[in-house]
Amino acid sequence: MKIGRNDPCPCGSGLKYKKCCLNKKRAQDSFENLKKIYWNNYKIRLKEKKDIEGIKKAGELVVKTLDLVEKEIRPGITTDYINKLVHEFTIAHGGIPAPLNYHGFPKSVCVSVNEEVCHGIPGKRVLKEGDIVNVDVTTKLNGYYADANKTFFVGEVSEDAKKIVAVAKESLKRGLAQVKPGNTIGDIGWAIQQYAEVEQDCSVVREMVGHGVGFEFHEPPQVPHFGKKGHGIILVPGMVFTVEPMINLGKKDIIILKDKWTVVTKDGSLSAQFEQTIVVTEYGYESLTPYDL
Ligand code: MF3
Ligand code: CO
Ligand code: CO
Repeated sequence: MKIGRNDPCPCGSGLKYKKCCLNKKRAQDSFENLKKIYWNNYKIRLKEKKDIEGIKKAGELVVKTLDLVEKEIRPGITTDYINKLVHEFTIAHGGIPAPLNYHGFPKSVCVSVNEEVCHGIPGKRVLKEGDIVNVDVTTKLNGYYADANKTFFVGEVSEDAKKIVAVAKESLKRGLAQVKPGNTIGDIGWAIQQYAEVEQDCSVVREMVGHGVGFEFHEPPQVPHFGKKGHGIILVPGMVFTVEPMINLGKKDIIILKDKWTVVTKDGSLSAQFEQTIVVTEYGYESLTPYDL
């Protein structure tokens, strides 16, 4: 059956077909038109050049912070020590650690070890040889936010640990490869799920997603790391969002601990994650928190 111009769009956006995927050329509409369409329909604030410059500056500080932490990762340090490094380095460079007091989060950075998926609270836990540790840094600088994370090895690690970290890193790479005007948010999740679950027999966490970022820590749209090709919102230049797949070695299910923050795998299996903040450009994307993948 043919889809009518006024029928609901099959991509699930809730828009009429004619206002959505019928016009894949939307991605080439004028920026001023796109700004209105994306705000009115999705509450997405497209970013202009000066905003992107601001987010990029915040992103440079985020990446420098991750570099500093990377050099300090070794058996015997506490996760609180990572918090101190991030907090002091951020402040010293004129930034604000965005996690601190965010919906009551008590520290300046998320540090998640082994079976911890994300939102780990730094504390007295001591890193030991063989651990993997994700450090997730979000910095506000001159009013702009950037958000990125990496998973590090603590000394020599197991083959399982090497595998899950490699799969998480490649998952981010595969997701980002889909980012260009005319593709959809569903294409990103589809590529990640296809690789991590179908090709590598790992699993993608469903409950936590990538997100718009820049003017706020978390803005629309949500960016799931699973999904269907061609579904969801069409990507257009000026969209700024994170891609941050959480990949488990075992099953996808998670539990939130009694501290109300720490997310762990239900089966206790290892979990890894990499995150970058990107902007959709005319031909593809540019990372605003660039590091090698
Ligand atoms: N940085 C996380 C993200 O990637 C969010 C952490 S929220 C916090 O979206 F409150 F735990 F910091
Ligand atoms: Co994020
Ligand atoms: Co983050």
